[in-house]
Amino acid sequence: MRVRILKDEGAVARSVASQVAALIAERPDAVLGLPTGRTPIGLYAELRERHAAGEIDFSRVRTFNLDEFLGLPSNHPASYRTFMDTHLFRHVNLPRRYIHFLNGMAADAAAECRRYEAAIRKVGGLDLLILGIGANGHIGFNEPTRSVKANTHRAKLAAGTRRSNADLFGGRASDVPREALSMGVGTILRSRQIVLIATGAGKSAAIRATVDGPITSRVPASFLQLHGNVELVLDSAAAGGRRR
Ligand code: F6R
Repeated sequence: MRVRILKDEGAVARSVASQVAALIAERPDAVLGLPTGRTPIGLYAELRERHAAGEIDFSRVRTFNLDEFLGLPSNHPASYRTFMDTHLFRHVNLPRRYIHFLNGMAADAAAECRRYEAAIRKVGGLDLLILGIGANGHIGFNEPTRSVKANTHRAKLAAGTRRSNADLFGGRASDVPREALSMGVGTILRSRQIVLIATGAGKSAAIRATVDGPITSRVPASFLQLHGNVELVLDSAAAGGRRR
């Protein structure tokens, strides 16, 4: 696992935006996997700015988001789809038909998960998957449990994950759905390249366990050790105070 430690979250956002821009310049129809959450907000701001400056053309890019809450329509103010519209999609020239999202309202969740896996396969797989990480070591909504799921699946959210998503629901953790649809650990590991971003001291224990710990379903991000092309881009707080 490569680890890059940068000064602060602004440097993380700029650096990963440059990686995304370089990939799209080289491969204009790149397939991106994208996270939501607090961590990528700066990255999406950078991508918006670079698009506005004429530096990134999203017209042939395809995107697949990692996860979506179960039971929320895509236009719900707290849905991850709304988050992406707000922070990125609305501001760039990404054709709507190239945006792929799990449908949290699907009547048959298992069929929806199969549809998503098939859609990823149909475009030839993910070129670059950007990940955040939970303070408990989750990636996507693969929470610490006794086992991990390989493919896109219906997942139960940990209590801490519901608390950390409370802001989307007016601060009320009890309003955060208890379940979500999420790419599985296998879906994640099939991406050709993975960049995990983490900022802030709250992530340092999870990062340490991801990099140095055993591969265990108790720290789902530790499975990234099995991938040959993973980079962790951290600020020095998430790296446990280490400097680059
Ligand atoms: C969200 C996702 C989650 C987040 C993680 C970190 O799409 O995949 O795994 O990346 O919960 O969230 P923040 O960035 O809010 O700390």
